[in-house]
Amino acid sequence: MLVDGHGREVSYLRVSVTERCNFRCQYCMPEKPFSWVPKENLLTFEELFIFVKVGIDEGIRKIRITGGEPLLRQDLDKFIKMISDYRSDLDLALTTNGFLLEECAKSLRDAGLKRINVSLDTLKDDVAYKIAGKDVLKKVKKGIEKALEVGLGVKVNNVPLKGINDGEIVEVLEYCKDRGISIRFIEYMENVHAKDKLEGLSEDEIKDIISTKYSFKELKREASSPSKIFELKDGYRFGIINPHAHDFCEDCNRIRLTAEGMLIPCLYFEEALSIAKAVKEGDIKRASEILREVLINKPEKNKWSESSKNETSTRAFYETGG
Ligand code: 5AD
Ligand code: SF4
Repeated sequence: MLVDGHGREVSYLRVSVTERCNFRCQYCMPEKPFSWVPKENLLTFEELFIFVKVGIDEGIRKIRITGGEPLLRQDLDKFIKMISDYRSDLDLALTTNGFLLEECAKSLRDAGLKRINVSLDTLKDDVAYKIAGKDVLKKVKKGIEKALEVGLGVKVNNVPLKGINDGEIVEVLEYCKDRGISIRFIEYMENVHAKDKLEGLSEDEIKDIISTKYSFKELKREASSPSKIFELKDGYRFGIINPHAHDFCEDCNRIRLTAEGMLIPCLYFEEALSIAKAVKEGDIKRASEILREVLINKPEKNKWSESSKNETSTRAFYETGG
């Protein structure tokens, strides 16, 4: 079992396989970054897998593959299969923008992937174009349908933005409800990489909009989930993630690995240690030591609820997969 310096059990590893993305979402990567991490600095799947095995051996039970856009990385299904074959009872999930999902869904499922989260901020083609910087919606919707068809668990992420997609909250919720997909609305998290002047909706604003059509009650939050859960009268459940006010650090169970091998204890802090050298040398003992060092130094709390935003990390979400 892995326990951090504040007594929290850590069992969830998020692995970013690339920081590159084929979308330019306003809230994440509105412009192509000045420079990408050079390809030669990316760890190979074999190298990433050395660390993943160390993590699993020591108590990791949930792994989420993220990016950037993870489906841009070739042979991702092979990496999924390596992990799934090593331990088949893992909760193995992936976060994607859905653009390449129609082509990949079946091979990912066959490789052992269980669940995906797809971004769906709007149901209007022109709004999707505005948010992602290209005409993406038709392909994303086809990707979602295909994922459901092959039997992957599907969840949708939606970031409501004032004046952009905030008029469609009920419609997107109903799109998901009709398909038995759960949706999580995520409060926009301010960051220096996002487009200027974006304004997100707060949890209360999102709830007010939904309550114009549906009544719902709040359920008990699942352990270690940053999302609050709400249930409509017919039993359909949706979530809201509110990093500004909601303190989900108390039972945080996650760490993150970037495509370059930086092991990050908390999204909101700069601290990180590299496992690149250890895995390139096949030094399992050293990789395990670094994992423990990172856990001992995992911060207790994020800084979102404080006004001192300048203390938070400027690392882009597309490097760490959010
Ligand atoms: N604020 C809130 N959510 C974000 N995401 C990316 N950037 C932000 C941000 N600035 C979410 C998107 C996507 C997931 C990978 O992260 O909803 O689904
Ligand atoms: Fe790409 Fe996801 Fe960032 Fe959008 S939010 S730019 S899809 S990494």
